[in-house]
Amino acid sequence: MKPKYALFILLALASCNGLAPTVDRSADPAASAQKVFLAYDAAAKQLLAKMTLEEKVGQMCQPDQGALKDPADIEKYFLGSLLSGGGSGPKNQADYTLQGWTDMVDAYQRHALNTRLGIPLLYGVDAVHGHNNIPGAVVFPHQIGLGCARNPELVEQIARITAEEVRATGINWSFAPCVAVARDERWGRTYESYSENPDLVQVLGEAAVRGLQGAHLADPLSVMACAKHYVGDGGTAYASAAWNEGRGLDQGDTRCDEATLRRIHLGGYITALRAGVGTVMPSYSSWNGVKCTAHKYLLTDLLKDELGFAGFLISDYNAIDHLDPDYKKCIEIAINAGIDMVMLTDKYAVFCRDLQELVAEGRVSLARIDDAVTRILRVKSALGLLDKSRPPLADRRLHRTFGSAAHRAVARRAVRESLVLLTNERHTLPLSKTASRIHVAGVGADDLGMQCGGWTISWQGSMGDHIPGGTSILTAIKNTVSKDTAVTYAQDGSGARGADVGIVVIGERPYAEMKGDSAELSLPQEDLDALATMKQAQIPLVVILLTGRPVILGEIPAQADALVAAWLPGSEGQGVADVLFGDFEPTGKLSYSWPRCVSQLPVNVGDSDYDPLYPFGHGLSY
Ligand code: GLC
Repeated sequence: MKPKYALFILLALASCNGLAPTVDRSADPAASAQKVFLAYDAAAKQLLAKMTLEEKVGQMCQPDQGALKDPADIEKYFLGSLLSGGGSGPKNQADYTLQGWTDMVDAYQRHALNTRLGIPLLYGVDAVHGHNNIPGAVVFPHQIGLGCARNPELVEQIARITAEEVRATGINWSFAPCVAVARDERWGRTYESYSENPDLVQVLGEAAVRGLQGAHLADPLSVMACAKHYVGDGGTAYASAAWNEGRGLDQGDTRCDEATLRRIHLGGYITALRAGVGTVMPSYSSWNGVKCTAHKYLLTDLLKDELGFAGFLISDYNAIDHLDPDYKKCIEIAINAGIDMVMLTDKYAVFCRDLQELVAEGRVSLARIDDAVTRILRVKSALGLLDKSRPPLADRRLHRTFGSAAHRAVARRAVRESLVLLTNERHTLPLSKTASRIHVAGVGADDLGMQCGGWTISWQGSMGDHIPGGTSILTAIKNTVSKDTAVTYAQDGSGARGADVGIVVIGERPYAEMKGDSAELSLPQEDLDALATMKQAQIPLVVILLTGRPVILGEIPAQADALVAAWLPGSEGQGVADVLFGDFEPTGKLSYSWPRCVSQLPVNVGDSDYDPLYPFGHGLSY
């Protein structure tokens, strides 16, 4: 491990015990790393000088490609960027392939090249655990598992592979890493965060930016990263009243003083800036009642002026719509607060018209427009997009290594290192490869969709085996044992009597964002029933949890002889079998405190009454 990372890991672990001082990163030379973008100022300003107001405003607009009324609108409105929101791919299901995605993105680029100035598109996608929208991509463990692996070099390597697979489709921007510090597991986005611990988030977030952006953004295998969601998205307060009105933690209100906001939630942005991140996405959530998307102090005074952020701010998906009943006022508030590019669905014509009017009416200054567009063009220049000798179309040679065995081997290693052995009574694990019969149960044993979780093929993810190239945990077990070992499977746990050992794979069904907000953190009854049925067979029982967060376990630890947290491991289930059968030791350590019950929440290191079921840093080995 590189010395610089080792220091941070030590700091992360020490600080969780209150031993190390919380280093004030606000003085870090993040600004110096950001100066790399200032080197492109001349190129940006030279192009800016040629642009009409209409062309400038078009650069600040990012519609979802699925909402385009006509691809030619890219030319009509001089659009500077498109995104594919979760699952927003080719319209025909038959084209929902690597080839189909690549053809779609290239076609949009050609429209952009067809405009007067031919400024290529920035095309953004949520490649948050591999290029997870595309069938056949390697799907890596979600960030919570990487937080438990605590291996920044591995995170950087994963991000590098992800960047390559994203580039294979001609896409040049990923809305990652999420550097949220999730403080309450009832939040549906807990698995998108590395940890409750700010230092761990900072180390791993920095590694992810370095992997995605590489040594130089102009590298054809690099993509632009996006640190999100700025700031304090993981610290929103649980309010039962809001919950009862259907509003959970997601997009809620983070209530704390500025010192606490800086100490817990800001560090991931400082280390991302230091890694040269080109974009930052403000959060839907609020800080003390004021929405981050409208917060001039946070966006301009703190991030841009104090910390020296020289890239650009992209608002979250239709996030500006929530700022005011009047859409034109929403635009005015967001742009004047410091938003440089607006992510939206179908209101791109209205946005372009209204923003031009706001400038004509003096409600948004031309200086603010020029600052925003200069920032966008600086980043495009750094990516090589203003270099006319480099067509921005996909390098289809990369299709050869898309989802390759070499990429999958790295994901399999990440799965191994993300597993946390919570209990292991009487050395139940590791299992023998030569047992006469192993009985497997639980819906998660043979369901790649559940193994991958949300943000996989679609926004919410889904149950099922629509992840080509993946290996389920049941298949992995069969791949590992001797040819004389019988591996039997019954989802409901029946038929276990007489087996040498039982393995039950249970957990959460896929979800994303607010759909995952949960006040109970309980497992589905069918999982508990399968476990109970298996228990009646009176054989040693290994329970594997496929969850996006610590959940309330109730009687499960007492029923299990061994209990493994596998989180959302992604496509490479073989990594789970590698540890179950002892080819590799379990090395994962909890990056979250595991609550005993929901009444304990939020429970985090440093609480005066800290008494979790399993503490931050817990993890057994063989
Ligand atoms: C979503 C998420 C954000 C994502 C964006 C684009 O609502 O909040 O994380 O990057 O929209 O899909």
